[in-house]
Amino acid sequence: MGIRKEENLYYIEAKQFSMILENREGYLLLKHIGKKIGSYHFSNSIYERDHAFSGNPDPNIRTFSLDTQRQVIGLHGLGDFRKPSLVVECGNHSVTEFKLVADRIISGSLEVEGLPSPYVTDKAETLELVLEDVVTKLRLYLYYTAYEDYDTITSFNRLENVGSDQVVIHRQLSTMLDLPKSNYELLTFQGAYAREKTVRRQKVSQGIFSIASNRGASGHAQTPALILCQEGSQEDSGEALALQLMYSGNFQAFIQENQLGEVRLGIGINDDNFSWELQPQSSFSSPLALITYSNQGLTQLSQESQVFVRDEIMSPVYAHQERPVLINNWEATYFDFTKDKLLELADDAAQLGIELFVLDDGWFGNRFDDNRSLGDWVVNEEKLGGTLANLIDEVHAKGLKFGLWVEPEMISENSDLYRQHPDWCIQVPNRSHTYSRNQLVLNLANKEVVAYLKTTFDTLLANHDIDYIKWDMNRNITNIGNGSYYLETQMQSHRYMLGLYELVSYLTESYPHVLFESCAGGGGRNDLGMMRYFPQVWASDNTDAIARLPIQYGSSYLYPTISMGAHVSASPNHQMGRTTPLDTRGHVAMMGNLGYELDLTSLSQSEKELIKAQVSHYKQLRPIVQFGQHYRLINPDEVSNEVAVQFNYQDNVLVTYVRIQSQIETMETTLKLKDLEEGRLYQLVGSGQVYSGAELIYAGLTMSLVQGDYISQQLHFQAL
Ligand code: GLA
Repeated sequence: MGIRKEENLYYIEAKQFSMILENREGYLLLKHIGKKIGSYHFSNSIYERDHAFSGNPDPNIRTFSLDTQRQVIGLHGLGDFRKPSLVVECGNHSVTEFKLVADRIISGSLEVEGLPSPYVTDKAETLELVLEDVVTKLRLYLYYTAYEDYDTITSFNRLENVGSDQVVIHRQLSTMLDLPKSNYELLTFQGAYAREKTVRRQKVSQGIFSIASNRGASGHAQTPALILCQEGSQEDSGEALALQLMYSGNFQAFIQENQLGEVRLGIGINDDNFSWELQPQSSFSSPLALITYSNQGLTQLSQESQVFVRDEIMSPVYAHQERPVLINNWEATYFDFTKDKLLELADDAAQLGIELFVLDDGWFGNRFDDNRSLGDWVVNEEKLGGTLANLIDEVHAKGLKFGLWVEPEMISENSDLYRQHPDWCIQVPNRSHTYSRNQLVLNLANKEVVAYLKTTFDTLLANHDIDYIKWDMNRNITNIGNGSYYLETQMQSHRYMLGLYELVSYLTESYPHVLFESCAGGGGRNDLGMMRYFPQVWASDNTDAIARLPIQYGSSYLYPTISMGAHVSASPNHQMGRTTPLDTRGHVAMMGNLGYELDLTSLSQSEKELIKAQVSHYKQLRPIVQFGQHYRLINPDEVSNEVAVQFNYQDNVLVTYVRIQSQIETMETTLKLKDLEEGRLYQLVGSGQVYSGAELIYAGLTMSLVQGDYISQQLHFQAL
């Protein structure tokens, strides 16, 4: 376990997952990545063959080419014609040749300076490899951390300029892996606004497939992650490897199958609009990447990632804390609310057992619609019918916690802040703005702006008894160009991220008792960078239960359930216009952190009774959902008419099944449950019926639903 060096081989060993790197006269070769193979010794690579049109660094050894060796850094100009992972402009060229000069084994994990990292732990070991380019006097530090209790290895790197000339980094990926030829499939999580994290699965073939964002946020359309698996891998079988980037800004990830069928994977900052000036005696660190492995299929890969994210990335204050059932006033009132209306809503919520009242957009400045006032974080006391403190007290008095919506990174042109500091937004001088939701983005690359935001939100939080913050971000970044010269502008997007991380780490550390939920028009920045600071995320603005099924399914591949807010909203649904039974809306939202986002005051008595029952039932089920192991039983792919999810937690098993369209004269689906003890008895809560674990696993349970569209069933078993 951990890191070991034997002769010229480095063994990087996590729980059941290992990488073996070979030092071949200074070149770093990736000898193995996959299952940990005991303490056996490996020999040197023997692949030596002269391939036509490949470059040879040594004229006497035509059989050695970087184009045919598996590596962990890719450099162009030295005979490797695949996509490079590092490109540095050094004077009049950009050819660098990094050779290994030193190594060090460090106990514990490391933090990446200024960027989100998993919490530092001593249950890990880190390999530091130092490579040098003698001509440019650049030093590259590669870090691989192997975690004792996980099938996870993290990696990042740092480029240091020890010479006397400035150089310019044009690309510095966080991790790169070359893998042998095989039949692979690739999974990515794509989509759009209100349709986030759609699972896309495709066969890998010769050429390059890449995903990326240049929006200044990871975006709704892509997730900074790739899963590579053996062709035909299922939930319970096959080898799979996930690469994830812990970064919330512009990213790229690619897979390249070259002319020989070999595969290169890379992930890191997107360099479409990125360069970095590296002055002498300074260094640049890449964001951190996570590499996760499973040799037993996709469920194991997901569970591995879910647990790692929850226990090593999420704040320890919240990782194991049950999340409150909330009511959010957005879809209940939008901007049109009065204090009385809010208190009526809070009253009903309290009576139904809801625990947290969230006041969404519209409480500040002159914010009566989404055209104005972002930046003016001054309470609109006229609209709130008194001070914010007053309202909070009244909500607290009803036995509810109080939460508030903010959108700190934004500024409206129609705001006092803009009138005072027109130069604080992101813009190209002498060009007109580009608007989105009629708002602009503050330049968090500017330290003055970050300092202002720290003070503003510090003051808000210090002076109010706020229990929860919803941190929104409702547009992407355009018009990057505040710098006074080209390269400064090229650095702005990453500097924005450094400013943002500084701001959110400051606020979350200062107010550890405040639960922060991140949002970017739903899941427009649902990534591990944000999750390090905000342990909950509003996964989508689409609150339609049926449309949520694939979104929740996609999220489950890599993110823990406890990170995901899921709300019951009105029917017909505001985004989709679909009418769905309240039962099903409840069952779907109960597969995440349950909340409500509808006008409770307009519901019938029977609907209120049902919600009250849902909330009280969820409080029983909550630890199973939020802390349990998650299993995908039926996936909502393009042809599927149904979805089933199982959670196991201690002696509890919870199965939720949703059928989308009503069908006639077909056999109802039989669900075979997972990971139960064959010889144990499980009692169905409610009916009292008892089953053996073996029966539930092998014979399964045949669902029996009433006719109708969008019908669901929830089954809770307790082991006897
Ligand atoms: C975004 C969020 C919504 C809501 C509105 C308020 O769209 O995703 O949940 O907070 O902003 O303007």
